[in-house]
Amino acid sequence: MTLDKSKVVYQIYPKSFKDTSGSGVGDFRGIIEKIPYLQELGIDMVWLNPFYPSPQRDNGYDISDYTAVNPLFGDMADFEEMIAVGKEHGIDFMLDMVLNHCSTEHEWFQKALAGDPYYQDFFFIRDQPTDWVSKFGGNAWAPFGDTGKYYLHLFDVTQADLDWRNPHVREELFKVVNFWLDKGVRGFRFDVINLIGKDEVLQDCPVNDGKPAYTDKPIVHDYLHMMNEATFGQAEGSFMTVGEMSATTIENCILYTAPERKELSMAFNFHHLKVDYEDGQKWTLKEFDFEALKKLFHTWGKEMSDHDGWSALFWNNHDQPRALNRFVDVKNFRNEGATMMAASIHLSRGTPYIYMGEEIGMIDPDYDSMEDYVDVESLNAYQILLEEGKSEAEAFKIIQAKSRDNSRTPMQWDDSANAGFSTGTPWLKAGKSYPQINVAKEKNGPIFTFYQKLIALRKEMPLISEGSYKPAFEDNPQVYAFEREYQGQKLLVLNNFYATPISLELAADYQAGRVLISNYKSVELGKAVTLAPYQTLAILVD
Ligand code: GLC
Repeated sequence: MTLDKSKVVYQIYPKSFKDTSGSGVGDFRGIIEKIPYLQELGIDMVWLNPFYPSPQRDNGYDISDYTAVNPLFGDMADFEEMIAVGKEHGIDFMLDMVLNHCSTEHEWFQKALAGDPYYQDFFFIRDQPTDWVSKFGGNAWAPFGDTGKYYLHLFDVTQADLDWRNPHVREELFKVVNFWLDKGVRGFRFDVINLIGKDEVLQDCPVNDGKPAYTDKPIVHDYLHMMNEATFGQAEGSFMTVGEMSATTIENCILYTAPERKELSMAFNFHHLKVDYEDGQKWTLKEFDFEALKKLFHTWGKEMSDHDGWSALFWNNHDQPRALNRFVDVKNFRNEGATMMAASIHLSRGTPYIYMGEEIGMIDPDYDSMEDYVDVESLNAYQILLEEGKSEAEAFKIIQAKSRDNSRTPMQWDDSANAGFSTGTPWLKAGKSYPQINVAKEKNGPIFTFYQKLIALRKEMPLISEGSYKPAFEDNPQVYAFEREYQGQKLLVLNNFYATPISLELAADYQAGRVLISNYKSVELGKAVTLAPYQTLAILVD
């Protein structure tokens, strides 16, 4: 397998993309219907969040059967048709593999609970819990039936961690990967994959909620290499794998993705999406810290470039509030902000991911009440905030800004009822903005067409897909800038992250360069250049 670096990925949250049955939940036929839309945008690969049978405690990340489809989304024939129609339009699919844990309703856990020792060895079952904290709040251990023992769940209590040290577990999970590989998918996204190697002896770990005991352990690299050899590593031609890395380090991400190690093709990290956390805590309200953001982008960009690592680049996904609400003055500069942010990653080194709706500048739903939220993490967090002494109004404000439901709202297709997503009652209410922000209105607008241009440029120019990354204007207080270089060609990308204009002095070669792309019309290159509010400007020297 090889990684084609000119490709761009589009993420679909299937529950919320397009419902054709009136059930209120999106489905495979809805995706089939919209494939021409995706082709028009120009993307190459669709990452689909989980659609497998699941009690939906964590919206499908709690899988009860790895090799079937949840009837909510259609049947296997629909799935196969979707893959085939995609191929006809030059679009491949990347599936979400949730292999760190399974639902407690999965046959394996049920058999373990019934007393089968073979399946008990699939999980972490211990006499005493450790002090590790679940990522969804509370202790990470729960009583294992009425045995007096405890099982580990790093996420929800219904998501039991699988023990990868057990070779039978690995064998079963590799079978799952191969099952979907055989269906013709061309990529995998591995959920929280850097958590699959826990310490051999599980002990209390008061540091950082217990994370050091189970995050980025050296054995994860061995497991990934084994999985690569046993599954997708054998695939012919272009193939893409991405690991979701929780609280990871650059050193590890280089190892996870350097081609000669044969682990994964790229890694997601989340450090840049924590720059608006107070003291590293998600459930807080804070303006984003531009200095921290810039530094993170520069350090990761340079280190990955210098050591042949490869990053997945993104601003949005199904776990994050909409980036436009976090990083730009969305009331006054939605078009400028959306296009600048797009350029800041699409012209950078790594594989860009677009989360559905980003290409039309979708924003948070602006719900009025806690009743509108369904996400398990948000509901838990609300309770915890109240217990910590916040008032209902204060807690609600935090949920409104931070909930994962912010990005899970129905895709906004047009201004008809429910944003044209469903003729039934949507499982999650559409955002208030849909009469103004929707595909019908935006498709010829500045944001969508800018995304089209950026995607096309990556395909045309190896400088963008392959070039090296070097930080530029590192001390500038409002511009995130970098240089790309490839076989004598150079590109300088300037991104103004603020609503105030700013001037920069250009080096001689760029003064004589030409504008490759900008989100403002007339740009004069000279000794100095002035960037308008949220302007992005890429200058080519060849
Ligand atoms: C990942 C997924 C998230 C899920 C969690 C547990 O972070 O992106 O949606 O809740 O893993 O599977």
